[in-house]
Amino acid sequence: MHSPLIAPSILSADFARLGQDVEDVLKAGADIVHFDVMDNHYVPNLSFGPMICEALRKYGITADIDVHLMVQPVDSMIQSFAEAGASMISFHPEATMHLDRSIQLIKDNGCKAGLALNPGTPLHVLDCVLDKLDYVLLMSVNPGFGGQSFIESTLSKITQLKQMIITSGLDIRIEVDGGIKINNIKSVWEAGADMFVAGSAIFNTDNYADSISAMKNQLK
Ligand code: DX5
Ligand code: ZN
Repeated sequence: MHSPLIAPSILSADFARLGQDVEDVLKAGADIVHFDVMDNHYVPNLSFGPMICEALRKYGITADIDVHLMVQPVDSMIQSFAEAGASMISFHPEATMHLDRSIQLIKDNGCKAGLALNPGTPLHVLDCVLDKLDYVLLMSVNPGFGGQSFIESTLSKITQLKQMIITSGLDIRIEVDGGIKINNIKSVWEAGADMFVAGSAIFNTDNYADSISAMKNQLK
């Protein structure tokens, strides 16, 4: 079984002092840094690109950076983020013309590869590529904004995906992204997830360490 990882989404961080805020959240017990890339095309919002990822590395952030690409097309961004210091890269299948090629590109660049599925995207898109993935990111909100409410039907989708992974015998993590809070993280975990993205539930609180340890306490 994979140990659970808490992945704060820096979409809700303080952009004016991003390096310090990321350092603070890691010191507070975060395991990895979730980096939401939005292009105002694939999703109706604009966030940040590879230069910011590189800046975090130069600032001294050594934790894994989990890049979630909500962009179209994806391939050139895969290349840029790998060069900028990404550790893991996921993208949405609808955003690429050649799913297998984009996954391979992530791996060829030395990063872990994930596929991100929207609430309305069925699990069967994974059928022909599951064996090439290190993780699957299930969106529990529609992508584009932090602070939305968790879509409950994600729980049964997580369970189905977990079953697919067990049946395959592959070593694949399940990351869940959107609307995760202290009061629902346990149900997400019990459904089969092991990486938990949380933006507003961590960065919009006064004490990151308290928020993260309250989440971790739910996972015991
Ligand atoms: C949404 C992003 C999420 C989001 C999570 O498109 O992929 O990572 O920032 O934020 P919360 O935890 O506030 O729902
Ligand atoms: Zn995300």
